[in-house]
This record gives sequence, structure tokens and C-alpha cells, in this order.
Amino acid sequence: NKGKYEHYMQKEIHEQPESLTTTMRGRLIRGGSSKRKSVLLGGLKDHLKTIRRSRRIVFIGCGTSYNAALAARPLLEELSGIPVMMEIASDLLDRQAPIYRDDTIIFVSQSGETADTLNALEYALENGALCVGITNTVGSAIARNTHCGVHINAGSEIGVASTKAYTSQIVVMAMVSLAIGADTISSKPRREAIIESLLNLPEMKDLAQSLISEQSLLMFGRGYNYATALEGALKVKEVALMHSEGILAGEMKHGPLALVDENLPIVVIATRDQSFSKQQSVIQQLKARKGRLIVMCTEGDAAAVCGGSGRVIEVPLVVDCLQPVVNIVPLQLLSYHLTVLRGYNVDQPRNLAKSVTTE
Ligand code: UD1
Ligand code: BG6
Repeated sequence: NKGKYEHYMQKEIHEQPESLTTTMRGRLIRGGSSKRKSVLLGGLKDHLKTIRRSRRIVFIGCGTSYNAALAARPLLEELSGIPVMMEIASDLLDRQAPIYRDDTIIFVSQSGETADTLNALEYALENGALCVGITNTVGSAIARNTHCGVHINAGSEIGVASTKAYTSQIVVMAMVSLAIGADTISSKPRREAIIESLLNLPEMKDLAQSLISEQSLLMFGRGYNYATALEGALKVKEVALMHSEGILAGEMKHGPLALVDENLPIVVIATRDQSFSKQQSVIQQLKARKGRLIVMCTEGDAAAVCGGSGRVIEVPLVVDCLQPVVNIVPLQLLSYHLTVLRGYNVDQPRNLAKSVTTE
């Protein structure tokens, strides 16, 4: 039931304040006079010791689920002190990459039924690693076959392009990071600030109007928001059927700069975190080449960041590691509106399936 919405994708984008609340429900201990603020993940608590002792942690997923893991990676590395590697399921299998008994492998999948991810799970089980699932679907193959895991509880997602599952996956992986590094705990008010921020995000319709007949769109991000650039570009590609590429801003001079001219629209993510000054310099370099910029910045930074030229998307500031949860929302809305304006099917994009159960 789409309720007041025209499409499931639109409904699911707007549902994010609630789906994130459900994802966190019962899992955050507020703290008080005798209790410490903490995270309680029922599915992981008996396995945390083993995870903390593992030599490395490997995230495995496909599509949006891979991007969610990429967004959570810096925090997991920071809080656990354990090297965290990223693997696309099919690529890991193509390489038959080494996996060891002292590895913790985290399988991220909204449906829990993606063939590539399941094949990678079987491979990791054969190699004796601890296998952890992060899925939205209770009773799915990944939930059943992993040693332990966490359900993201985002509610069913109907739109083929994943939106609310992405943000809930990041939040779950942030909670997993906190549980593994139990002495570093983000506070509940910060999380509440994120939900509040999501509620107040602007509509992205006009920006979509200005991009309606473009052939291509680039998105530059780095640090915590490298994943946002990849996921924003994936959304535009999947639903708006427009070529789009997410690029690590640190690689800009090693190739992508050649594409920059007055016509190609480029989204630069430059919200406040440790990458901010580097992104400011990226903006200056793109401007010097007359790039057609759309800058995403923190509320109140518009003038400082882009000096009044180009389009600006302002987003509320949250704690750096959770900023990707906020930053993706305008890009989801952008891809949604762009799709509707271009006249394509939002909920069932051409050639794609919600759950890909064959290789
Ligand atoms: C569980 C209950 C929830 C209840 C709560 C009360 C289920 C599905 N969840 O939630 O209804 O309100 O206790 O304390 O009954 N698992 C995997 N692989 C995965 C995902 C999960 O093995 O990919 C396992 C977990 O290790 C755990 C079980 O499934 O043993 C349930 O996981 P989860 O729903 O995340 O646990 P709780 O949040 O504790
Ligand atoms: C499909 C979907 O390709 O599978 C994507 O169209 C999704 O939206 C990908 O990200 C992975 O799915 P899952 O269920 O494993 O997260």
C-alpha cells in the first residue's frame, strides 16, 4: 500500500525517519545513574569476543548493500582497530580470494537471497571463517546460514532501487562497530538528531528539473562520503536511466578531470568532516575549469563553500560517521524526481530485479 504516495520508492524515501527508528528500537541503552550508555545487539552479543580477536573483518555484498558497508567501514576500522576489507561478492568468488579461520566475514544483503552473496557465504563457511549476516529479511537464506547476525528491521522494501534499507544498513553497521569497540559509544541524542535531520530534509524537485535532459552526471566524494557518491550515482543509473559515476575525489586528477567542462553536471559532497578542506580545494579546481557544480554542504556553509555560484544542497550536520545517512537522502530524492520527470518506471526499472537469485 503506497498510502499518499505515487510510488513505492517515494514512500520508502520518506519513511526513513520511521524505518531508522525501528532499526534502532530496543538496541540502544540510554544510560542513567547506574547504567552506561551502550548498544545491545541480541544476535551478536555471544560472538563479540570472537569478532574482536579476528585478524581482519571482511564486508561482502552487492550493489547498494556493498555501498552501505563502504559507508560504515571507516567507523568500524576506527572503533575496532581491526583491518576492514571490502569485497564485491562475485569478485571474491572470481578470484577465489583467500579466507582464513580467524577472519570475520560480514554478509550484507537486504533480501538475504542474492545468489552472489550466498555463494560467497558458502565459500567462507567452507574456509572456516566466522560468518555474520546483516539482512532485512527474517528467515532468508543469509539469516539462516550465517553463524550470527543482525536484522535491520527496516520493514519490507518494494521499490527495486534500495533506499530505506541502505540507511538502516549503515545504522546497523554503525551499531555493530559500537558493539565491537564497546568503549566508544555515540550518544542517543546524536542519533535522535539524525532522525530529526531526516525529517527536515528539503525536496529536490527543482534540481531534478534542471538535470532532466543530461546524458551524464558525476558525483565526487571522499572519506565517509565516498560511499555516498557511489550510492548516489547508482541510484541515478538504476532508476533515472542516466549514466552516472561516483568518483573518489582523491582520484580526480588521475583521470576524471579530463571530463570537466561547462556542460557536465558534477555533484561534489563537501559537508563538514576531516575531508572538508580537501573538498573545498576540489571545488576550486573544478571551478577553475568552469565545471557545472552542484555542491552538497552543511547548513550555513553555502556562501563559504561555493561563493554564491552553482547549485547548493544544504544538509543538517550530524556526527561525521553518520553523515552518509543524511547525505544520501537528497540524492535519493534527486534520482526519484529525475526518473519521474524523464517518464521512466521508478519502482521497477528496466531490466532490474529486486532480488537477483541467479549468478
Ligand atoms: C530478537 C527477535 C525480536 C525480539 C528481540 C527481543 C527475531 C527475528 N528477532 O531480536 O523479534 O523483539 O529479540 O530481544 O526473532 N541472525 C543470523 N544472521 C542474520 C541475522 C540474524 O544468524 O543475518 C540471528 C542472530 O544472531 C539472532 C537471531 O538471528 O540469533 C535474531 O537476530 P535479530 O533479530 O537481529 O536479534 P534481536 O535484535 O535480538
Ligand atoms: C539487486 C537490486 O541488484 O540486488 C539492488 O536491484 C540491490 O537494489 C542488489 O542493491 C543487492 O541486493 P541485496 O538484497 O543482496 O541487498
